[in-house]
Amino acid sequence: MAEIFYSEADAQMLQDKVVVLTGGAQGIGAATVALYHSLGAHVYFGDWDEAKGLQLQQTLSAKGSSAGATTTTTDGSVGDTLGPGPGSGPGPGPGTVHFQRLNVCDYASQLSLFDTPFNAHGRVDVAVSCAAVSETGSWFEPEALDLESVKEVSSGNPAAAKPLLPPLPLPTPRRHSPAPLCLVSSIAGITEAPGLFSYSASKHGIIGLMRALRPFTPSRFGSVRVNAVCPWATDTQLLGGVKTAWEREGMPLNTPLDVAKVVVQDESLTGTAIFVTGGRYFDTEEGLARTMPLWMGQHNAREFIKGQQILGLGGNWAGES
Ligand SMILES: NC(=O)c1ccc[n+]([C@@H]2O[C@H](COP(=O)([O-])OP(=O)(O)OC[C@H]3O[C@@H](n4cnc5c(N)ncnc54)[C@H](O)[C@@H]3O)[C@@H](O)[C@H]2O)c1
Repeated sequence: MAEIFYSEADAQMLQDKVVVLTGGAQGIGAATVALYHSLGAHVYFGDWDEAKGLQLQQTLSAKGSSAGATTTTTDGSVGDTLGPGPGSGPGPGPGTVHFQRLNVCDYASQLSLFDTPFNAHGRVDVAVSCAAVSETGSWFEPEALDLESVKEVSSGNPAAAKPLLPPLPLPTPRRHSPAPLCLVSSIAGITEAPGLFSYSASKHGIIGLMRALRPFTPSRFGSVRVNAVCPWATDTQLLGGVKTAWEREGMPLNTPLDVAKVVVQDESLTGTAIFVTGGRYFDTEEGLARTMPLWMGQHNAREFIKGQQILGLGGNWAGES
């Protein structure tokens, strides 16, 4: 598996980029908002937690011209300064930060997150889809799955439906300029996650979406590139009761900032699924492609590659050939 290394030089290219991000009020999303801001980007983030979203906006705006890269704590509040950012010395200043309340289960609400930056800057450069809830209880069990719970899913009750609906803040070419798209999946999108039935299905769905989009978006949307970031255990409230056992066994634990750093690095990557473990980054798609003859069989792999060439960008599925 190819390891990916954080490049400070690439991160410095984010000055004045226009970024939209969902799920930014706490955890990994908040760390990413803070990092983009410290690197001079204009960040427009949404979350359904208005109190925490406004608090983060206020804290970062107040840091203003003295901002360096910041961390967020497990509850999502902004913590200590990690070092000088672009705003801390001579040269370009920090960016701006703007919060909007939204529910990612509501596509129109999610799309509206693009309007303010597009009107202000005439473009959106980067879109990050980070919001998620974990699966608690046993709603997938037959006794919890009835017509009402199905209605909850289809009407967008976030607690039940969110894990099933990968949030997708897709820029459209007419309204918004081409953008790199970063979808936050999980290790649960790469391997099995016992007990996390809908969460796992959703996170696998995000990897599938990234794979279907990666050859497609450059031909349809110019410079739009798509990647999936797949954290393993990361120190946020989402980890819940797992954290104690994890630390007791000395298992690798990401900080939210570790994950944020590879999200902002997304600028230089394309079509990857990036496994994040203990603050290190690995491209699992490269490993899968390289070892395909091994796990699929040499003959099957050869035929599969030929089949992919015949299918091209999938126009035949849509009757476009
Ligand atoms: N923490 C981990 O160990 C871990 C591991 C793998 C993947 N992830 C993924 O990383 C991402 C961030 O997770 P986190 O650990 O920071 O979690 P978190 O709970 O700290 O943050 C998630 C954020 O999403 C927001 N959100 C949830 N549902 C929403 C909705 N319907 N509309 C708008 N906002 C909504 C929450 O309010 C919260 O601010 C998620 O996609 C998660 O699945 C986390």
